[in-house]
Formats: sequence, structure tokens, C-alpha cells
Amino acid sequence: MARFTVITFGCQMNSHDSERIGEVLRGAGHAEAAGLDDADLVLLNTCSIREKAEQKLRSEVGRIALLKQKRPDLTIAVAGCVAQQEGEGLLKRMPDIDLLLGPDNIPELPRLLLEAEGAVAPVVRTAFDLAEPHFLAAAAEPGRTPVSAFVTVMKGCNERCTYCIVPHTRGPERYRPAREIIDEVRRLVAAGAREITLLGQTVNSYKDPLSELLPAPGAGEAPWQHTRGLRAREDESEFAALLRAIAAQVPELLRLRYTSPHPRHLTVSLIRAHQDLPVLARHVHLPVQAGSDRVLRRMLRRYSAAEYEERVAALREAVPGVTLATDMIVGFPGETEEDFEQTLGLVRRVGFSLIYGFKYSERPYTAAVNLGDDITEAQKIDRLARLIQLGDGMRTALLAEQVGTTQSVLFEGRGKTGALRGRTERSEIVHAAGPDELVGQLRSVLITGSYKNSLLGEVPGVPAEGPLPRPPLQKSQQAPRALPVVS
Ligand code: 5AD
Ligand code: SF4
Repeated sequence: MARFTVITFGCQMNSHDSERIGEVLRGAGHAEAAGLDDADLVLLNTCSIREKAEQKLRSEVGRIALLKQKRPDLTIAVAGCVAQQEGEGLLKRMPDIDLLLGPDNIPELPRLLLEAEGAVAPVVRTAFDLAEPHFLAAAAEPGRTPVSAFVTVMKGCNERCTYCIVPHTRGPERYRPAREIIDEVRRLVAAGAREITLLGQTVNSYKDPLSELLPAPGAGEAPWQHTRGLRAREDESEFAALLRAIAAQVPELLRLRYTSPHPRHLTVSLIRAHQDLPVLARHVHLPVQAGSDRVLRRMLRRYSAAEYEERVAALREAVPGVTLATDMIVGFPGETEEDFEQTLGLVRRVGFSLIYGFKYSERPYTAAVNLGDDITEAQKIDRLARLIQLGDGMRTALLAEQVGTTQSVLFEGRGKTGALRGRTERSEIVHAAGPDELVGQLRSVLITGSYKNSLLGEVPGVPAEGPLPRPPLQKSQQAPRALPVVS
């Protein structure tokens, strides 16, 4: 039996994989170590979406290799996107690594560890499970299951956004059977989960490989003015049907979210699902990446700014009050000041509750390498700062507008101050005082104040016992944001 510790970089998909890694290892009789110092196995679950991934890994491996000098039995395993991307080449550059495995090879981990133990050379396993895609089901143990849990519905990506390494590191799209997804949602809810977020790189391109879903209302309708011809037909998926099946078959579920959808699969059927299913949160993370059509074309996003806005408008009309978060890349090769102004223009017109802004970083194996990386670092920094400033202003205003309203909040646990921490339907974080019994409950909460990134609330009829939330934070105290799943 080994005592293991997992160190995770990157997005929610990686955090989710790390939980499955823990379950696979515990299932094989291994136990979690208290920390690095008493671990026999350190597994680094890596991310390569943006620059410095390999440098970060190198410094982490270097740090652990020092421990290995004192404890030669310590095993260093590297999983995730950098392992998949670099394969054996990585071992030449980092000889301290004992085991390298790709995202699809997690189920084989116990066997690979045994192999690594007796091997003279490091063990490498980075094969995609194309013929028989495998989705590790969550263990759904009561006591270990969070109020808000994640369920994978698909993996890989068939898009070819020119900046993105994901198709290379995660392979082509593979979908999980709907019955398996629904079963996992049901088991998680039985174990205490109240909110489920469906995960996938382009989550709304989902199709049931067993073809067991009933067609969803609106499927095949394409009334779009700005999407015509082949592009309009291509975007049909069965994602709305999956959402309806989950809502119908797991009625105890209080909230359903998904991330990250691709705008071209924001179909009529998906909008209808939002309209019809109260369980669907009134918030969508819909990455737009840029507001200039010229840049969007060079990114191969397969929609124009007008197409994006038309679909958002249809969603907003069907679901009043829905908020949108987005991802944006600044400094994409060839992005002019005018292109960037168009991005700011789109942000102003659409209005986002949260923007994850990124400086373009050239990735190996991507088509954009051929476009060069001609925007200077200073320009990227400047554009990102302007984008963040605009986004932050919108966010703060949106939060402030809610003071005095009543919001439905799902309490997920306690925050750093010890006060209750929950989220509104629209994904805003709410801090409130109250007893532990509220964790896992959906309650009407009176919003009494707003911070820069969250809200302060009171639960009517509940004594404000326990630790109180802290007064509004200063700018410098804001917590860093987690990385979203790619799309
Ligand atoms: N450079 C900068 N940002 C990137 N993203 C993906 N690839 C790159 C890249 N090469 C961003 C996209 C995506 C988010 C998760 O990361 O905005 O939606
Ligand atoms: Fe796929 Fe999203 Fe990457 Fe585009 S940005 S290739 S949709 S994972």
C-alpha cells in the first residue's frame, strides 16, 4: 500500500480527474497521505492550456526530486495534458519522473504503478481510449460527496480553434451513454449532492452513443438570421434532451449547470430547455474569445460576433435575468487595436457577469503557430488590463444592483471566515450567518450588501448564529479566480 498525494493544476476537468485518481488509488488499497512529507507517491496532474506549463512542472518535479534524494522509494507520476502532449520527450528533460500517464489512462493507474515499481526505465502510457471510451464514475460516498458535484458527459474536442492545444491533449470527442450519466447524477444526489455541473470540453455538442434519448422540443429548428446553410444544420446535438432526461429522472436534484458550451451549439432546443426546466440555473458560461469577426475567423471559432449575439439575445428573451460569463483571449496573432476595440464593444453590448480574460500564448501543435506571435507582451498586458477593468466594472454594478432583492441560494458549506457560503441561481457567491443545517438547502436569502466579487445576505427566519461574514473586502484582498473548463 502506498500513501499518495495528488497535486492539481488547471481547470475543473483536471480537478475532476484528480478526484477520480484518488478514488482509483483508494479502490486499489492505497491511502491518502497527510502531505508531501509522508507520501510514497506524488502525482502531478498537469495543465498545458497556456504558457509556462512545462516550466511549472519542471520546478515542481525539481522540488519533489529533492525529497526523492532522501527517500529513493518515492514515486513521481505525471498525469494530465502535459504528460499527454509531451510523452516520452518529457522524460528526457525530467529524468526524475517514474510514471507518465495521459488523461484516458487513469483507470490503469494501479497496474502502471506496479509496473513502475519493478521497472528500470520509467513507464509511459498515453493512449487515447478511442475504440472503447471509458468514463470513470464518481464513487458517490456519503460524507465525501460535496453539495455541488461534477459529472462528465463527454471528453475530447472536435473543434479546431487555432490557438487551442486541447484537441491534441484530450483527443477527439467521445460521449458517455446518457443512462450512465443519469445514474451517476442519481447516485451523487442520493449521497448528498444538490447541484450538479455537467462537464465537457464542448459540453453541448453531446450526443447519446446509445441513442436512447427522446428528441427535445425545438430540435432541428434554426431560425437564425446570422447562421445560415451548413453551419445552421451542423449545430444540432442531443444536449437539451440529456438535460430534460436528468430533470425528469432525478427530481430531487435542486440545481443543474453545465460547462463549457460552444456558442454554435446554443440551439433552439437548448434555449427551450432553459425555458422549461426550473432546475437549470439562470447562468451560462459561454466563451466568446473575441469580438472581431476577423479574429474569430482566424481563431476558427465558426461563428461571427453577430451570430453569438443573436443566440444570446434569444436565450435572454426566453430566460429573463439569465447572466452570462465568458472567456476572452487578448493579443491573438494579428489582433489590431481596432479588433480589440470590437472585443470591448461586444463586451459592452452583451454585458457579462464574469470575464475570464487571457493573454494569448502560443501553444505547440496548434495551427496559430503559423500566424506568429506578433503582439508584444506590453500590448497584451495593456489590453488585458482594459478588458478586466471593463469586466470588473460590470460585475461590481451587477452585484450592487442585487442589494435589497431576494435570491434563491444553495448553501454549499462554510467559507474562510466560517460564515455560510452559497451561490445564487446566477452563480454569485453569497455569504451569510446561520447554522450548519442550512448546508445543502436552497433558501430565499435577502441580499444586504455586495463585495467586489460576492454578496452578503441574511436568511429570513434563521437566527444569525455562528461566524459572521466579514465586511466588504478591499481590492487587494480579492481571491484569485479558478480556471474554467475550455471551450
Ligand atoms: N492562449 C491563451 N488563452 C487560451 N485559452 C485556450 N487556449 C489559449 C491560448 N493558447 C483560453 C480560452 C479558453 C480558456 C479556458 O483558456 O479562452 O476558453
Ligand atoms: Fe475545443 Fe474549446 Fe479548445 Fe476550441 S477552445 S479547440 S472548442 S477545447
